Amino acid sequence: MPASTLDQVVSLAKRRGFIFPSSDIYGGIQGVFDYGPLGVELKNNIQGDWWRTNVYERDDMEGLDAAILMNRLVWKYSGHEETFNDPLVDCRSCKSRWRADHIKGKCPNCGSTDLTEPRPFNMMFKTQVGPVADPDSFAYLRPETAQGIFANYANVLATTSRKLPFGIAQIGKAFRNEINPRNFLFRVREFDQMEIEFFVMPGTDEDWHAKWLEARLSWWAGIGVPRDRIQIYDVPKGDLAHYSKRTYDLMYNYPTLGYEEIEGIANRTDFDLGSHSRDQDKLGLTARVSPNADSLARLTYFDQANNRHVVPFVIEPSAGVGRCTLAVLSEAYADELVKAPPAEKLEAVSQALQAFIKSAGRSEKLNGETRDALVARAESIAAALPEALPQVESLLGMAGADQIEVGKKLRGQAQPVADENFRTVLRLVPKIAPVKVAVFPLKRNHDGLVGTAKDIRKALQRTCMRTVYDDTGAIGKLYRRQDEIGTPFCITVDFQSLEDGSVTVRERDSMAQERVASAELAGYLREKIG
Ligand code: GAP
Repeated sequence: MPASTLDQVVSLAKRRGFIFPSSDIYGGIQGVFDYGPLGVELKNNIQGDWWRTNVYERDDMEGLDAAILMNRLVWKYSGHEETFNDPLVDCRSCKSRWRADHIKGKCPNCGSTDLTEPRPFNMMFKTQVGPVADPDSFAYLRPETAQGIFANYANVLATTSRKLPFGIAQIGKAFRNEINPRNFLFRVREFDQMEIEFFVMPGTDEDWHAKWLEARLSWWAGIGVPRDRIQIYDVPKGDLAHYSKRTYDLMYNYPTLGYEEIEGIANRTDFDLGSHSRDQDKLGLTARVSPNADSLARLTYFDQANNRHVVPFVIEPSAGVGRCTLAVLSEAYADELVKAPPAEKLEAVSQALQAFIKSAGRSEKLNGETRDALVARAESIAAALPEALPQVESLLGMAGADQIEVGKKLRGQAQPVADENFRTVLRLVPKIAPVKVAVFPLKRNHDGLVGTAKDIRKALQRTCMRTVYDDTGAIGKLYRRQDEIGTPFCITVDFQSLEDGSVTVRERDSMAQERVASAELAGYLREKIG
């Protein structure tokens, strides 16, 4: 079962150090997040798996790491200066600004319908280049990594002797001055993209588009986002980006948000290579491009079989790392009932929830929308007890919940029952889990147990498995702590270990335990983790 609300995932991500709001100590900056100690491991593992699958395991791919800053002309001829716009409206009542297509004609802040006509707002960030502040000495922070690939197409072709079809893969930062960043990592102003530009012979593009769709769905399934949680949206002609002949958007069923884009797979035709080329009239382009008198290159491919130069077509799978992280966490999240709570404690939680619903529903401190959201959430939890009991914590983290006095009593009733009877577990696919193995000594004040556990940690870490040591609580509590961050295996060193060298290995999902000889641990774990 995936998470039932986005709040559950946000709350876990903040509580356990996956994600922090950027520059928190000064009140943050909207639409920017930092990856904490566990977040950076998860992100690196996702990116590493994408790179391994798309670069190392294929024979037709090269990698690239292009700079974020590029000559401004790149963004002129790519079409971004002219067309990378969102429709902006102002609310005349409260002076807030919104993206017109996100608000259905009504200001989400004050409810007014007195809005200005939509006007285009270019989403590229500008930054000054060099010490002279004249109006022309600026560059854009790239809004997609793709253009770094197109600008290096001829370099890669010349230095690798690749034949069509072949691709160039890149992972890197992209920046968009979103009008309303929202929904945690989903819509932000600074994010990472994993992009492939796959160059093919014109005429084979539709076949390759279909092949890439399948390849990408298979990758998503392999990192824990199954096929049946993704819908394929064939973007209607009128909504296609200026460069696209056809685009499949992969739509993941995010908790709370519903189906939203997680990856776009576009057929960019010969638009980009053609746009960035000189002598365009000699290239037989199919795409409509602006005349380019600035380019120093013809971005073509010599088709030896037919003794002619062609401009390759491009298939582009493009996924955001943040949206991927959010999907992976949502999919893996579970609040699992470990043992049935005593009836009287459950009844006390139920009554506290009813008191909360009554109090929130009557509260005059909250606006209508906040009140309705709190009541609806509390009612859905009350209707799904005992399974939904751990969700009380994210209810109390919602906007306005701190204004409801009985919320404190509700937490006091619910938290001990949740701690005692439930576990939060992230069922992450082991290969992307931030920590692979945790090692505990049965007693923290016993030199033999502690020394052996630390030696095992060190030995496993040397095999490139992220391994941690912990002795800061009872074993049951340590298991729960690791379950919550998705660690697939925990090892306990006990007195038998000192006698025969075996340890207990406990598996996260089944909670099954097995004794394994220390000498065989690395091989045993590597096989299970894959
Ligand atoms: N090069 C093509 C391109 O950039 P896109 O559909 O605009 O296409 C590709 O973006 C992916 O980048 C999206 O599917 C999404 O995963 C991610 N993405 C785009 N804008 C984002 C934003 N503001 N915040 C987080 N991720 C974003």
